[in-house]
This record gives sequence, C-alpha cells and structure tokens, in this order.
Amino acid sequence: MDTMKRTHTCGALRSEHVGSTVTLNGWIHRNRDHGGIHFINLRDRYGITQIVIDQDAPKHLQDLATELKFEYCLAVTGLVRERPGTMKNPDMTTGDIEVAAAEIQILSRCETLPFMVDEKSEAREDLRLKYRYLDLRSFSMQRNIALRHQVTWATREYMTRQGFFEIETPTLIRSTPEGARDLLVPSRLQPGKFYALPQSPQMFKQILMVSGLDRYYQIARCYRDEDARGDRQLEFTQIDVEMSFVSREDVLSTLEGLMVHVFSAAMQIDLPRPFPRFSYREAMDRFGTDKPDIRFGLELEDITETARKSGFRVFADTAEAGGTVKALRVPGKAEYSRKQIEELEKAAKIYGAKGLAWFKVTTEGLEGGSAKFLQDVGKELLDCLQAVPGDLVVMVADTWNTACTALGAVRSALGRDLGLAEAGAFRFCWVIDFPLFEWNEEKKGWDPMHHMFSMPQEAFLATMEDDPGAVMGDLYDLVCNGYELASGSIRIHDPEIQKKVFRIIGFSEEEALERFGFLLNSFRYGPPPHGGIAAGLDRLVMIMAGEPSIREVIPFPKNTAGISPLEDSPSTVDEAQLRELRLTLSNPEGSGEA
Ligand code: AMO
Repeated sequence: MDTMKRTHTCGALRSEHVGSTVTLNGWIHRNRDHGGIHFINLRDRYGITQIVIDQDAPKHLQDLATELKFEYCLAVTGLVRERPGTMKNPDMTTGDIEVAAAEIQILSRCETLPFMVDEKSEAREDLRLKYRYLDLRSFSMQRNIALRHQVTWATREYMTRQGFFEIETPTLIRSTPEGARDLLVPSRLQPGKFYALPQSPQMFKQILMVSGLDRYYQIARCYRDEDARGDRQLEFTQIDVEMSFVSREDVLSTLEGLMVHVFSAAMQIDLPRPFPRFSYREAMDRFGTDKPDIRFGLELEDITETARKSGFRVFADTAEAGGTVKALRVPGKAEYSRKQIEELEKAAKIYGAKGLAWFKVTTEGLEGGSAKFLQDVGKELLDCLQAVPGDLVVMVADTWNTACTALGAVRSALGRDLGLAEAGAFRFCWVIDFPLFEWNEEKKGWDPMHHMFSMPQEAFLATMEDDPGAVMGDLYDLVCNGYELASGSIRIHDPEIQKKVFRIIGFSEEEALERFGFLLNSFRYGPPPHGGIAAGLDRLVMIMAGEPSIREVIPFPKNTAGISPLEDSPSTVDEAQLRELRLTLSNPEGSGEA
C-alpha cells in the first residue's frame, strides 16, 4: 500500500481550511477515548492537530483506534471541520479545527516508551541521552534546534555581507599546547604517531592571515579533553574569526555587529549598542569576576582604608600587609538567618576566602557577627556603603584577587537566590585590558592568560621581561549574563616579541619550534598584523534559549562523564584494530590511571 503523503503539516490547518479533505503525517502525541469517540493529537515538527474518530466512523477505523498507542507514526486522511465552540483551544494554533478521520494508515509502531516525549524534566538525563531520538521529538528540543539553525544562518549571512570567507581548517592536526588536553587519534599509516583534534583553529587561522585571506570565519568544531560542565563539552562549536590589518576596535565592532544581527534575525530582539566595557581590573573590583552578570547591581565596595583604621585585627592586618578588604551591602536582608549567612560563606570559601565577616545594620548601628570589632569605624563604614537599617553587610579580607573573587561568588549566589537578574534580559559587556600573564603557583612560573600568541599592549613592550605580572595584553572577552561568550586578542606577528613571550612562560625556542614551528616559520614570510576572536556557539544558543546547560542545545552531547549514552562511546575496540594501529593497552581494564 502506498503511503498517504501529507497535504499539510500538523501545524498548518486553520478555520479557512474547514471543508477540505487533507492528509497529515505525524506521531501520536496524546490518545484518548471519550465514550467511543477517539481523540488523537497528531504531532510533527510544526505543531499538533486534533484527529477525531467519530462514534459512527466505519468499523475498521473504530477497531484500529483501539490499537493505537503513543508515538505510533501515522498517516491520516480526513475532513477538516470547525470544533464546537466550547471545544476550541486558544492555546493551540490549530485549536479552532479538528480533522474527522476517514482513513488511517499505521506507518510504524512504537514500543513502550522509556519516557513521555515532552516530559523531559521528569526523565533522568542519561535516559534522555540514550533515547535522544525520542527526546529530540519534544517541542522544547525542536525549538532549540531551530534556534541554533537560525543563529548559524544569521552568522553566515552577516559574516558574508561583511566580506568574510568561510574557510574550513583540518580536524586532524599536530598536537599543540593550547591550554587544555588534546584528544588524540592514532595514525595507521604512520605507526606510533598521532594526530590531535584541534582545541581551536587558532594556528590555522593565523596562517590564513599570512596567506592574505584577510577576513576569515568558520563555524568550527573544537575538541578539548577537559571535564564537562554545564557550559563545557569535550566537543563544541565556535564562531571563529580572524582579521588582518586591524586594531582591537575593528574586532570588537565586528563581533558586536554579529551579535546585534543574530539577536535581531533569530529572536527579533534589538540589542543596544555599544556594549558597555570594563577593564579587567574594574570588572573584578565591581563584580568580583571577569565575567560580570550586569543584569543586576549589588556591586562590591573597597573598604580597605576604613578597615585599616579599625580595631578588627584580621582587617587591619590584611590592609597593612597590602591586601584588600571588600564589602557587599545586601539591601533589606538583615533578616537573614545564621544558616543563610553560612551558605554564603561556603560560596566564598570555594574561592579561597578564609571566612565571610558580616554585620547587620539596625537603627542603633552595626549588630551581630563582626559588629563588635568594627564599632570604632561603624559610621564611616555605613557612609561608605550607603547602608541603611535593615541591610546585611558581608565582607572578605584577603589578597585583592581572593577578596574580589570570593565576594564575587557571594554576589552571584545572592543574584541567583534572590532572583535579582531581570528575566528575559540579555546584557552584554566587553572585558578588556587583561593582564597578559597569570602566575601559576604549581609550576612557580608565568602562564599566558589567553594564549601565547597574544600581543602585549605597546606601553609594556620594552619592560615586559622585568615585570611580567604588570603587562597588559591586547586581550578581550565578550560576556553575556555572566557567561564568557567569546574571547580573543590581537596577535604577535613580530618574532622578537614572540621570543620574549616564550622566555617569560618558560618555553625554550627549541620546544616552541618543535611544537608549532609551522606557525613560526610562516611568520618569516611577511605576516600581516592581525587579530581575532572566537565565540562559543553552543553557549550563545544556550543563553538565547534560556537553558541552564549547553547539552540542551546540542543534538547529541556527551554527559558529564564524557560518555554518549546513545551509541555508548567511548568504547573498547577490537584487538585487530589495535594491532593495525600497533597499539597495546598496558591496562586494558582501564582503572583510570595511566
Ligand atoms: P577560548 O579558549 O577562550 O579561545 O574559546 C573561545 C570560546 O569558546 C567557548 N568554549 C567552549 N564552549 C563549550 N565547551 C568548551 N569546552 C569550551 N571552551 C571554550 C567559550 C569561549 O569564550 N582560539 C581562541 C580564540 C581566539 O583567540 O581567537 C580560543 O579558542 O564561549
């Protein structure tokens, strides 16, 4: 029997179709029997249409109706008719009509479902990932996939209009140090050798600049062997951009333009331009993070100078030792219990604070917690914080970095707990003027803050080796709602500056040549000044969709253990495959230890 092919989708029919005979194809979303009348909600990507098998329908249809189960795939032919007034459903786009079935074909049957499609919150995530094909049938997942498509489409549209070429770069490359661990692929043709999957197209896009392809972009797959979290995956996608003969401003304005276009095309949202900018120092000082969520205020205050004068030893000693004391005024939360304050303290301690000092503000002044040690500077503190009775004040004394980040974590926790972020808002900002290097306590040496091809700001060129910690880089991050969305830099194209950077991070020239000589060699042939940026596509779509995890916007993601329950990867491989690759496993049972 030929399949009855659809004349319309399940989201298409309206009152104007009443009286026409149509054929729909789709899945049984809901199925109920009201005293001999069968109602079937038939679903496809476009919507749901109510199908009715009337009491006086032919017997073979009546019989078939009793056989139907959730998620059977059907073809239905019937007459479109107006629903009786009380049966109209204004919540459904097709809610004014129904289709009276004249013929039904079961195209395929469905076994007992592991979970109901569209009830994702009730299914465990691993179950959803194992049966991802069912999970992806849900409207929420299909909405996310559609949004992702619109974002990539709008990206291609905008970048092409701006004169960028989309250029593919290889995904089997040489292992190069780029921050995370590489995922390796053994070579059969070159036994004992490995390809790495690219952590990003960084070096290839720089080489494309040497080749004169001066505006490159790519929707690029990247691979990093790092722990998967809510906003991280082993395998993810970047909107990767590189440009020649540009300054920082050109890169920022290109990406800002891209975001404005993408939000307008995919969500009909006008993002105000320009995006506000904060230096790294200012972001840390005011928000306690280099990824500030500026959907709410609750800014940190520096009270080091007041704390220095206080009789509170911990504060005064910290100030004397060159540290910082930061305070956060939480309006109207003097009512917080000790337990609630302890929860905030936990958040601070994760970021290295030794404790969270606090007091409440009453009409009498400071009360509770550390109030008794701060009475001598009480008035000054209240003035400085503009605190009023009913407020709670929490404080951290430590190094500048720890005081900021620990109190920043408290700010984030409060923002979340108190629901301070404006719902549905997208607040972008740039963070610029990052230090070029950060101190690595473990190796007792300097690491690049972004990557080692990033340019120091001009003012530091001459002195960078004397005081690496003071060097500002030509680095920039794009942040939205507290997430790092994109990161980039102006690159070094001068071999002498590159050598200095290698020296500072303890990379010998031989090692540098060995690991990425191909890039450095290309720089011997007239490299143009260039710079670029890469945005996380998954993160962007996650934020736009209002989802808590990038797994909700990736069709086939890995779970937090790096496993894909769908096809059960990673998996063991045949002895024969290993032999072909000349590999032997020292620990085939895989205890996790090398
Ligand atoms: P970076 O490593 O900062 O820079 O990455 C750029 C952006 O990619 C996203 N991202 C991730 N998304 C999901 N899962 C991950 N594991 C993951 N890691 C990063 C983030 C991040 O802001 N080559 C440089 C860019 C450049 O300098 O041009 C780079 O890859 O949104």
